[in-house]
Amino acid sequence: MGRCVNFQAELEKRTRETEEIIRRYLPEEEGFAGTLTKAMNYSMCAGGKRLRPILLRETLRLFGGEERLCEPFMAAIEMIHTHSLIHDDLPAIDNDDYRRGRLTTHKVYGEAMGVLSGDALLNYAYETMFRAFDLGGNRDAVIRSVRIMAEKTGISGMLGGQGVDVENDGKPLTREMLDYIYLHKTSALIEAPMMVGAVLAGAREEEVNLVEKVARDVGLAFQIRDDILDVISTSAELGKPVHSDDKNHKITYVTLFGIQEASRQAAFFSQEALHILESLKQKNEFLLELVTSLVERRK
Ligand code: IPE
Ligand code: IPE
Ligand code: MG
Ligand code: MG
Ligand code: MG
Repeated sequence: MGRCVNFQAELEKRTRETEEIIRRYLPEEEGFAGTLTKAMNYSMCAGGKRLRPILLRETLRLFGGEERLCEPFMAAIEMIHTHSLIHDDLPAIDNDDYRRGRLTTHKVYGEAMGVLSGDALLNYAYETMFRAFDLGGNRDAVIRSVRIMAEKTGISGMLGGQGVDVENDGKPLTREMLDYIYLHKTSALIEAPMMVGAVLAGAREEEVNLVEKVARDVGLAFQIRDDILDVISTSAELGKPVHSDDKNHKITYVTLFGIQEASRQAAFFSQEALHILESLKQKNEFLLELVTSLVERRK
């Protein structure tokens, strides 16, 4: 599919808008707990692609939803994602010193504040999501959305995947187990925002299920590309260390299959996601372009 000439500009515009929405929901840095909130905001304001909130709103747009209601959820998914990154970088997990082009939170604020600010962001995500009830709109859709976010984050989602991931550092893994890890640590946090976008827009049950499948494939392709970038990119371009997986003796798609075959697999999952999206009667050209762009992303 030919990339629309304006895609990059459109992506930058949406990233700026998302940035502005997220900032409106960040906690105030004041009082005795000011250091904790500074540590939370340090990583939240460090940039990042803002992919998950962008996917949330574009999925809502695909189904013609009302934009106002999704804003607390856009901020919340970025808080949950950022919490996962702050903890992923801790010495006890991946032990990485850079993230989003800056020293990691624990390097700047110490390990205790790294742990606490990650916890606080995860909790603040729920405080933020509950603010959606003040905006009017369909309460059942909001309740269902909070539930999706909770389930996709916990033991049957991202945290479950992270648990299996760290437990298996340095151990041989089958593809089946590796897929379990990717589907949970990465796909779950892409399924959540896309499904929430669909639910808030009032999409039908079959449509929400299809969106979950799309996000599952996008997540697999995204994580495989992340593994590839860990080998072929530079820390300057990524804003985080390269060769982190090698340092932690991780089995990845790259170590199992090699870079070429891993790229082929990422392209396969991405194509599968695009086919499902193209089969829907609703259209969002930007969303198609965005999904297409992820397999070749440089950061
Ligand atoms: C990094 O996510 C963690 C993975 C699931 C690979 P991103 O690559 O989306 O990180 P940011 O948000 O842009 O920093
Ligand atoms: C992490 O996978 C996914 C989550 C943080 C949930 P990685 O450990 O590969 O992510 P990066 O490469 O540090 O961003
Ligand atoms: Mg990790
Ligand atoms: Mg990591
Ligand atoms: Mg990685």
